[in-house]
Amino acid sequence: GWRKREVNVLVAGLDNSGKSTLLNHFKPDEYRTTDVVPTIGFNVEKFQYKNISFTAFDMSGQGRYRNLWEHYYKDCQGVIFVVDSSDRLRFVVAKDELDSLLINPDVATRAIPILIFANKMDVKEAMSPVRISTAFELERISSKPWHICASNAVTGEGLNEGVEWLTDQIW
Ligand code: GTP
Repeated sequence: GWRKREVNVLVAGLDNSGKSTLLNHFKPDEYRTTDVVPTIGFNVEKFQYKNISFTAFDMSGQGRYRNLWEHYYKDCQGVIFVVDSSDRLRFVVAKDELDSLLINPDVATRAIPILIFANKMDVKEAMSPVRISTAFELERISSKPWHICASNAVTGEGLNEGVEWLTDQIW
């Protein structure tokens, strides 16, 4: 039939980057949480939106849970990396986590698309997607399609555009 196959998309980023808020926009209403509480320990969130199965986790905690989250890399067909564009203090930490994701053999050896949400675009101190792509050295990613998109996870601005780009790359 015409039904498209299902795909697994990983949603990663530091704590407080806005992953849970962002994912709420794609959740079925009955799953939507109004209060988003900070993740304690290693927490994996999974749900289905259209033909996309989202698996989200955060990369904080000095990589204490790295071996747990890296386990999800081999089964994903796309990655969403969420950055708090206004968190200049942890910018380098976010870059390091993205870099470690990109050099993981389960990611590095496959041409899977990487979508970066430059989230919290509404905050005054937020860096632009152009500045973030320079700081993150995204032009060095040559073996995969990548895209950076400004977003406001609270209002939903930029989210559909980004996810559409990602799914277009997969299908
Ligand atoms: P953990 O649950 O700790 O892993 O964090 P998370 O990445 O899921 O972030 P979360 O969605 O909990 O958002 C953290 C805080 O940032 C919350 O207070 C959100 O309301 C806020 N936030 C998320 N996205 C935006 C945004 O685009 N703009 C603004 N101004 N605030 C945002």
